[in-house]
Amino acid sequence: MSDFEIKTESRIFPPPADFVANAAISGMDAYNALCAEAADDYEGFWAKLAREHLHWHKPFTKTLDESEAPLYKWFDDGLLNVSYNCLDVNLQKGLGDKVAVIFEADGGDVIKVTYTELHAKVCQFANGLRSLGVKKGDRVVIYMPMSVEGVVAMQACARIGATHSVVFGGFSAKSLQERIVDVGATLVITADEQVRGGKHLPLKSIVDEALALGDCEKVSKVVVYKRTGGNAPFNPARDLWMHELVANQATECEPEWVNADHPLFILYTSGSTGKPKGVQHSSGGYLLWAMLTMKWTFDIKPSDVFWCTADIGWVTGHTYITYGPLAMGTTEIVFEGIPTYPNAGRFWDMIQKHKATIFYTAPTAIRSLIKAADGDAAIHPNKYDLTSLRLLGSVGEPINPEAWMWYYRNIGGEKCPIVDTFWQTETGGHMITPLPGATPLVPGSCTLPLPGIMAAIVDETGADLPNGQGGILVVKRPWPSMIRNIWGDTERFKKSYFPEELGGKTYLAGDGAIRNKDTGYFTITGRIDDVLNVSGHRMGTMEIESALVANPLVAEAAVVGKPDDTTGEAICAFVVLKRSRPTGEEAKQIALELRNWVAKEIGPIAKPKEIRFGDNLPKTRSGKIMRRLLRVLAKGEEITQDISTLENPAILEQLKQAQ
Ligand code: PRX
Repeated sequence: MSDFEIKTESRIFPPPADFVANAAISGMDAYNALCAEAADDYEGFWAKLAREHLHWHKPFTKTLDESEAPLYKWFDDGLLNVSYNCLDVNLQKGLGDKVAVIFEADGGDVIKVTYTELHAKVCQFANGLRSLGVKKGDRVVIYMPMSVEGVVAMQACARIGATHSVVFGGFSAKSLQERIVDVGATLVITADEQVRGGKHLPLKSIVDEALALGDCEKVSKVVVYKRTGGNAPFNPARDLWMHELVANQATECEPEWVNADHPLFILYTSGSTGKPKGVQHSSGGYLLWAMLTMKWTFDIKPSDVFWCTADIGWVTGHTYITYGPLAMGTTEIVFEGIPTYPNAGRFWDMIQKHKATIFYTAPTAIRSLIKAADGDAAIHPNKYDLTSLRLLGSVGEPINPEAWMWYYRNIGGEKCPIVDTFWQTETGGHMITPLPGATPLVPGSCTLPLPGIMAAIVDETGADLPNGQGGILVVKRPWPSMIRNIWGDTERFKKSYFPEELGGKTYLAGDGAIRNKDTGYFTITGRIDDVLNVSGHRMGTMEIESALVANPLVAEAAVVGKPDDTTGEAICAFVVLKRSRPTGEEAKQIALELRNWVAKEIGPIAKPKEIRFGDNLPKTRSGKIMRRLLRVLAKGEEITQDISTLENPAILEQLKQAQ
């Protein structure tokens, strides 16, 4: 969003009276009081919340250990178990018969699982994993579809202190193998197939392919959830069916009590260099923030039916499907399929059917459903009863004011606040977001930091910038759910997130932001590094470039993002082939081949939307690719910038034309 739009966005939506009356944080005074409490006694603020919200097997005595900053530790001498906090605690509260998960399959079948049942399933699977020798600190890779079993697998790892690393089911065999190797997994959990939009996709054979790529000798077992009974390869010496593994296991399982900073999970995400980073999260601090944000941002109540549409392969699925809602004893919806199957009314149909009260999705989904509803009145949200909804959320990318207004009117019936939650894989949970019972909303702004989150906007030297001036988004104090390390690469962790230029202790988010002059509200202006956000999925440009140049036809490639009405950003690749520049039909053919190649190297989400071929790329005399010029070309705009350092200006004309 440009500065101009930020200034002219003057619509303000005050919180509805019923929210103000009943919300956990009621009114701006309550919000300000919590912020003041955190500012007055930072450690005391967090310690009190951690004691109130978590079950500690052994209480912590030290709240924050900064002795090895930026390797911060929170509550670390305390012992707890995340799965115990999500399940056993709820049984003790008498919620055993409450539905924990309403699972809706791609084809429409619904399964309801109570807290008692979920607890039993998790314990059985945890016992099964233990019987295979999986123990505290072992890494388990989970490559599964959206399913009750996926949640069970994650919770079961947590129960026995194994660290899970979930890999999104859309990643290719190669991406999966890279993650298995980097994390040093000893076991993989997968399914025979996943079902999305009526199509069966082979997960197990991708796992086999990944393991055959090499360096995966540590993986001794593959546990397979039978989702479809389809034709999946099965190696009895290594593979086990999940249902057979759990069949005779006890429905109780003594949890492994772990220190609060024990790694609960490692989740890979894209950075500005080629290799994805294994973001390592803690147990205690992470779960505390998952719970607090459920309470503060989503104002979760016992009667809510909460639906987060993310996949468990992303951080949103970790925090707002597997951990946060369960730790709060919530009833949640888990959906296997896609928003457009059997038609683009699927989300609205499911909200109506399950009487969802809180709905949390990504702007990309909203934008594509706006288009669909415009094109087909039969699936317009006004054909469904959405009156059960009381709160809406948005996550993963900026939501443009038009999409915000459509969401507000057509889904929320102008009565549901929208929480536009800004956060990242690294932050573990929401950072900057409205509170539904306190914050007046402005479309397109994620408004204000949550209490205890010391977000600020600074320049390259770390100096604070005044409101109204765009700069670099940072967080000045550590917070409990922050990333603890990059798995196996502490140096990269320090360099990426706590650079010396900013003093070595300030968290660098990687986004630009600006605060409104009058309200102080934050608006995220986009990544300041080479990371793209396509449909809310984070992609490193270098990752895609490496995939492209690995193709035997390609000599050089440069990838940039260009604005896209539906996906937010789209991937545009400029490619130089080893042979002469193709044109016409041939160019189309090679572009198709390269797109499929990228899908195979990384996954379909990384496919460039557009590929342009050139004899060369625009470079400086020292040979550096001038990406800023490529960004302008990708947008289809005229170059008005200084090109005096460009060695080969003629190339711009050639690259102007899309193929
Ligand atoms: O650029 C920001 C954008 O998504 C990035 C984080 O991506 P990821 O780690 O995949 O986590 C996504 C789910 C939390 C951020 O650096 N982003 C996320 N939420 C918002 C956003 N941009 C604008 N507004 C948001 N609400």
